[in-house]
Amino acid sequence: MLVVVTGGIAAYKTAYLVRRLHEADALVDVVLTPSAEKFVGRVTFEGLTGRPARTSLWERPLDHIELGSEADLAVVAPATADFLSKMAAGGADTLAAATLLAAACPVLLCPAMNERMWEHPATRRNIETLREFGLEMVGPDRGDLAEGEIGIGRMSEPAGIMAVAGRMLEEATLRERRIVVTAGPTRAPIDPVRYIGNRSSGHMGQALAASAWRRGADVVLVSGPVARPHPYGVEVVEVETSDEMLEALSAALGSAHLLLMAAAVADFVSPSPSSSKIKKDGSGLELGLVSGPDLLKETRGIREERGVLTLGFALETDTPVENGRSKLESKKMDFVAINEVGDPAAGFDVPTNRVTLLDRWGGLEEFPVLSKEEVADRLLDRVEARLD
Ligand code: CTP
Repeated sequence: MLVVVTGGIAAYKTAYLVRRLHEADALVDVVLTPSAEKFVGRVTFEGLTGRPARTSLWERPLDHIELGSEADLAVVAPATADFLSKMAAGGADTLAAATLLAAACPVLLCPAMNERMWEHPATRRNIETLREFGLEMVGPDRGDLAEGEIGIGRMSEPAGIMAVAGRMLEEATLRERRIVVTAGPTRAPIDPVRYIGNRSSGHMGQALAASAWRRGADVVLVSGPVARPHPYGVEVVEVETSDEMLEALSAALGSAHLLLMAAAVADFVSPSPSSSKIKKDGSGLELGLVSGPDLLKETRGIREERGVLTLGFALETDTPVENGRSKLESKKMDFVAINEVGDPAAGFDVPTNRVTLLDRWGGLEEFPVLSKEEVADRLLDRVEARLD
């Protein structure tokens, strides 16, 4: 992976980006323009990657050819207005520009500049030209700019750049597929301040949404209240109650090919939540809970009608495979990923998961303990194979 740093204040964020790429096991070569070095020194990048960072065309004569032919992807972060204009014109006066001109790999631009510079017709034209050349772009985002102004021009955050880079590198096996994912808990309100919830963090559903997006899918993520940031690139519908989740899910399923149902939907709800705060009088409180909607059962009709392939989860304490199989049938799922309650490597509060995958064709596969991201990838591999 090649990271080209040009001279803008956002170069400090590129240090974080390079660190995250390195942590993700990418072999990162960094090239800086001379003005980038005025913002962040090459030693910083050398320390982060453990590899030499380069700035000059004259240090090693063939660097500009080798760097771009060895990389799978080149990321230009930040890409200044001046550098974009140079690229659009085919300039090659610095190692950074010459390397990109000679690069054989896809290129991702991460522009960063003042809003007026971004909106200037010259920049607009350069951007159009670069898009015509087939270059990809992420950002710039709206927000606080360096001069104290607020507007469009911020370089995208490293997490967003990583996500887009991941999508560019991954084979687009789910292109033109519309995938609905549910994640997180739902809340069953008791009164305006209290609710019944559960410990779902949304991690598993988010990992599935991120993996599907990386494979080129259009992803709608229907999410209950979660503390974790939503994954980049997906369309998010935030909901709170199971009724709201059912409504959002039914709307999204109209055009879906696949449903990944990872939400921990409240099974028990208060029949009539109070509109004012319930006062305590020392005698306790009877909640008198009733069953809430079962979203998989409620959406069975639309899923069957539209042929939506469905993967759900099952949280079990006893006879997991038996119970999983009966949920597969009763809820009309095609796949069910079973988690065992009480497994220290699986469940709500841990970054790992251990699942047993059953499918309606009789398949049974036990996965080892994996990160939730790896579980998501494996589940999608299996589901993808049945999509057609
Ligand atoms: N699910 C749902 N609607 C609910 C509860 C669960 O659609 N009200 C979905 C979950 O998202 C999951 C699957 O059904 O994909 C199984 O969830 P699980 O909690 O294991 O089962 P329950 O249906 O709640 O059954 P039980 O609690 O009796 O095991």
